[in-house]
Amino acid sequence: MERYKYILDESAIPTHWYNVQADLPQPLLPPIDPATKMPVDLAKMTAIFPAECVAQEVSSERWIEIPDEVRDKLAIWRPTPLHRARRLEKVLDTPARIYYKYEGVSPAGSHKLNTAVAQAYYLKKEGGTRCTTETGAGQWGSSMAMAAKLFGLACQVYMVRISYDQKPYRRILMETWGAKVDASPSPLTAAGRAILAKDPDTPGSLSMAIAEGMEDALNTKGSKYLLGSLLNHVIMHQTVIGQEARKQMEMAGDYPDIIIGCCAGGSSFGGLAFPFLRDRLVNGAKTRFMPVEPTACPSLTRGEFRYDYGDSNKLTPLIPMHTLGHTFIPAKIHAGGLRHHGMGPLISHLYNLGHMEPRAYNQMKVFESARLFAQCEGFIPAPESAHGLRAAIDEALRCKAAGRAEVILFNMSGHGLFDLSAYDEFNNGRMQPYDLPEEEIRRTLKDIESQPRTEEIAAALAGMSK
Ligand SMILES: Cc1ncc(COP(=O)(O)O)c(C=O)c1O
Repeated sequence: MERYKYILDESAIPTHWYNVQADLPQPLLPPIDPATKMPVDLAKMTAIFPAECVAQEVSSERWIEIPDEVRDKLAIWRPTPLHRARRLEKVLDTPARIYYKYEGVSPAGSHKLNTAVAQAYYLKKEGGTRCTTETGAGQWGSSMAMAAKLFGLACQVYMVRISYDQKPYRRILMETWGAKVDASPSPLTAAGRAILAKDPDTPGSLSMAIAEGMEDALNTKGSKYLLGSLLNHVIMHQTVIGQEARKQMEMAGDYPDIIIGCCAGGSSFGGLAFPFLRDRLVNGAKTRFMPVEPTACPSLTRGEFRYDYGDSNKLTPLIPMHTLGHTFIPAKIHAGGLRHHGMGPLISHLYNLGHMEPRAYNQMKVFESARLFAQCEGFIPAPESAHGLRAAIDEALRCKAAGRAEVILFNMSGHGLFDLSAYDEFNNGRMQPYDLPEEEIRRTLKDIESQPRTEEIAAALAGMSK
């Protein structure tokens, strides 16, 4: 019998998270306070995020212990399976061996629950009673809703308007787990009201929803804001994925030549990639790393490395990242979770250091691959995850042309069972490709021209440490 999947038992759930910051050849630039242009005061960040998450954000400890209460919750669905996509390999007629780590088995349907349970745990431990958050695709909001319930917290979700309209079932799921869900921009916050006054028909964006979630948390006693991507601690919580995958690749008797995943802030991609990237950073392994984004929101492939805000209302500190500018409003593509103007600082930094080979695809190419995958492997990919899948297929076709039997590993970060209306649009010829015009990027980058440059801050910090 052919081997289709590699399964671990509960004892294989990692005991520690891997913090890639410990192995970076150059440290990350710090987040900056826009008022002082100095590294942000961590005490200020704890007004918004749980203190333990802030400590992890700047930690350089290589292995951070996962609390037993968090491992206990992870055990509800972890370890997740690693699959070999043998049928896809056959259809592509490629000598490449294609593996994927399947995170769609979590109750909320994606990898996002891995960090949601950790963040909810820390908030509860610190005496918090309520979390606020944003959601694009609905995957993060669902995860937060479930994790909040597991730890007895109330949960307020600001759901990007377009996803709220496109995905009523995601909203119902969140409400079933006890969360309160509002379309963003909403009349509940000053940030939302200001945006609605200017443009009542806006589709919303992740950065607007983040602004609302943060404002709400800052103004409501017992509340903290929990974020599902972008930040270092969020990506670190996802390294359970890569640590399991390493064991499973060993069971399969293979080691990846190339690791691929869709990328918005980088949590699913980094979660799979970083435990392998360590071999490259520390031991000089030649594995290639490929984050994949939509052409409609190409922060890594077409944005600039700049200090920028993480939200549209400038509530976050200035973060060093590849960005399209915080005023950028992405087109209404179906991968709602990939519609953020900025890439995570860790992925941005690793790209600058030459360790990342990003790719971008439009949604037609992405859905072609998603349907092919569904027809070969059965699982319905989340539109976000299908971006990574598309790159994996292209790499497998490159291997075919070159006659090379490389090992490809990608992250199937979630299932698309709540995204069937997008599949319906594609199946019935109603989907449109979308490529972002250069003028649009120039325009939103111009809006951030007056913000401090990464080179200036790096020079100022180097001067201070002399
Ligand atoms: C299934 C899925 N994969 C990937 C992402 C992208 O986020 P990240 O880059 O943090 O993995 C999202 C975001 O919502 C998602 O829902």
